[in-house]
Amino acid sequence: MLVGLVGWRGMVGSVLMQRMQEEGDFDHIEPVFFSTSNAGGNVPQIGGKTVTKNETKLQDANDIDALKRCDVILTAQGGDYTTAVFPKLRAAGWNGYWIDAASSLRMQEDAVIVLDPVNQNVIKDALAKGTKNYIGGNCTVSCMLMGLGGLFANDLVEWMTSMTYQAASGGGAQHMRELLTQFGTLNAAVRPLLDDPASAILEIDRQILATQHGLSADETKQFGVPLAGNLIPWIDKDLGNGVSREEWKGGAETNKILGRGISGGAAAIPVDGLCVRIGAMRCHSQALTIKLRKDVPLDEITGMLADHNPWAKVVPNTREASMTDLTPAAVTGTLTIPVGRLRKMQMGGEYLSAFTVGDQLLWGAAEPLRRMLRILIE
Ligand code: HSE
Repeated sequence: MLVGLVGWRGMVGSVLMQRMQEEGDFDHIEPVFFSTSNAGGNVPQIGGKTVTKNETKLQDANDIDALKRCDVILTAQGGDYTTAVFPKLRAAGWNGYWIDAASSLRMQEDAVIVLDPVNQNVIKDALAKGTKNYIGGNCTVSCMLMGLGGLFANDLVEWMTSMTYQAASGGGAQHMRELLTQFGTLNAAVRPLLDDPASAILEIDRQILATQHGLSADETKQFGVPLAGNLIPWIDKDLGNGVSREEWKGGAETNKILGRGISGGAAAIPVDGLCVRIGAMRCHSQALTIKLRKDVPLDEITGMLADHNPWAKVVPNTREASMTDLTPAAVTGTLTIPVGRLRKMQMGGEYLSAFTVGDQLLWGAAEPLRRMLRILIE
């Protein structure tokens, strides 16, 4: 099977290549590496190994004829690329499988949002019907569904709110760099005072605030405002109705992934919340309030969550376990999706509180794509 790889050099693409190498995916395909800037160059080695057999040169990622040769195109190049190339490729009669990480095609009727541990049935039905477009979901939504899959599989969620704590990586590689640059600038500004145990904390605080307010346009180019020592309660576009695009995705994509149709429709589960950017690196966290359809005992809920998929891990609702196992620093670089802070709320037995964390580059981006490729191979 000839699999065209586009955007493999970027942040999501690099994580994808690493995961494909770890899982031996290259043993089952003939990869064709595409490039938007270096066509004709040599293909990369992945994990120090040559993974191509005959396709030793980089192909032009904008060359429709070159793309058309592939049975599958797997792209992490981003939405602009998809918008520019996908329609041309289909118009040229290409009938292969398109696997994509960008949001451009996600909500289209002829596309499925892939997260197979949660919606394998939806994927299988679509394959049987001849659907050719398989798109990774929004990172926050995918991580949430991996954690709470057991509740949805048992149809226990009547409605849910998700209050998010989203990492810098959701914006991109440059955003992560900017966050760290800002942290450095802040630290440097008060270094002498920090080194002096007798210095006044309110003076340190005053200087930090002055430094945040004085950050250059260059130091806030990606986020627009300081993120270090701060937070930003808005992610993605303003939809003009008080809702951010990231918040809209929570309801729209969750229901599409679950095969429950359009958000607001008869079968849809209301999912809404407030999305906030914080100074974490690459793990998105979210605090969830879940209205259950019935008062299910907590031990049964714990069992459903833990049994749903091998990656969801229930963290005991204790201070110590929450501090060690339920944080971005604990989860980064792993496929584990811890779910903790599980308890019934004051509002009654049908109200469940939960907190979950996920690496937004793994389950949030790369992993569902490579798993979709494996489904096509098998
Ligand atoms: N929109 C997400 C974020 C990233 O900004 O965190 C990817 O889905």
